[in-house]
Amino acid sequence: MSSLVFARGLWKTYRLSESVSVDALRGLDISIDENEFVSIIGPSGSGKSTLLNLIGCLDTPTKGELTFDGEKVSETDDRTLTRIRSEKIGFIFQTFNLLPALRALDNVEFPMRTVRRDKRLGKPLRKKRARELLEMVGLEERTSHLPSELSGGERQRVAIARALVNDPRLVLADEPTGNLDSVTARNIVNLLHEINDGGKTIIMVTHDMKITGGTKVLRMKDGAIET
Ligand SMILES: Nc1ncnc2c1ncn2[C@@H]1O[C@H](COP(=O)(O)OP(=O)(O)OP(=O)(O)O)[C@@H](O)[C@H]1O
Ligand SMILES: [Mg+2]
Repeated sequence: MSSLVFARGLWKTYRLSESVSVDALRGLDISIDENEFVSIIGPSGSGKSTLLNLIGCLDTPTKGELTFDGEKVSETDDRTLTRIRSEKIGFIFQTFNLLPALRALDNVEFPMRTVRRDKRLGKPLRKKRARELLEMVGLEERTSHLPSELSGGERQRVAIARALVNDPRLVLADEPTGNLDSVTARNIVNLLHEINDGGKTIIMVTHDMKITGGTKVLRMKDGAIET
């Protein structure tokens, strides 16, 4: 079986000026199968977010091979990357990144509006699906709240519902519990486990070893995976 995410010799060099550059990834290899739950840990600056951004098609590698769901994303154009991102990948961030002017329901609906026209659901169906996902994350009573009217844990639940709304192949979470207390963090990770049990592949970056239980742990150091 081929992997969902496969990288060989992945390099990412950030060029700051003619003479200054940072090698954030240095020949990294990785292989992640469908339905795995992978935690990525490692010191600050070791390249965890850089790796997640490449896997999430938000950025492209400087060198090396990266394949996602059978497509060679290391050698493709921006249009294709945008399509893959919107149709196949859900993102969850430490700072939730909800749109502040939109109510919970509209935040969840939002990514469905970016889907290619011929695959896009009509508005009533989009609202219905957003409502179902908010129910799934336990927020059926909060659909009309603005982000500022929700607790941190509730905001992250909205973000998780939003990440799932286009039925992605992969969910990427960069320190999803970094802004939450330990009890709320545990609840959010439990929710991610439920989503993984439901068939989604999850890659989560975390500093917190307490929440990696039940997942495959990859340790990063100096831009590569430690073996
Ligand atoms: N856009 C950028 N431009 C230049 N350098 C960058 C950029 N993004 C990251 N870097 C550098 O690349 C290296 C890896 O950064 P990255 O954000 O991937 O680390 P990280 O493991 O996610 O760290 P943290 O745990 O603090 O979030 C760091 O040295 C960082 O300074
Ligand atoms: Mg980071």
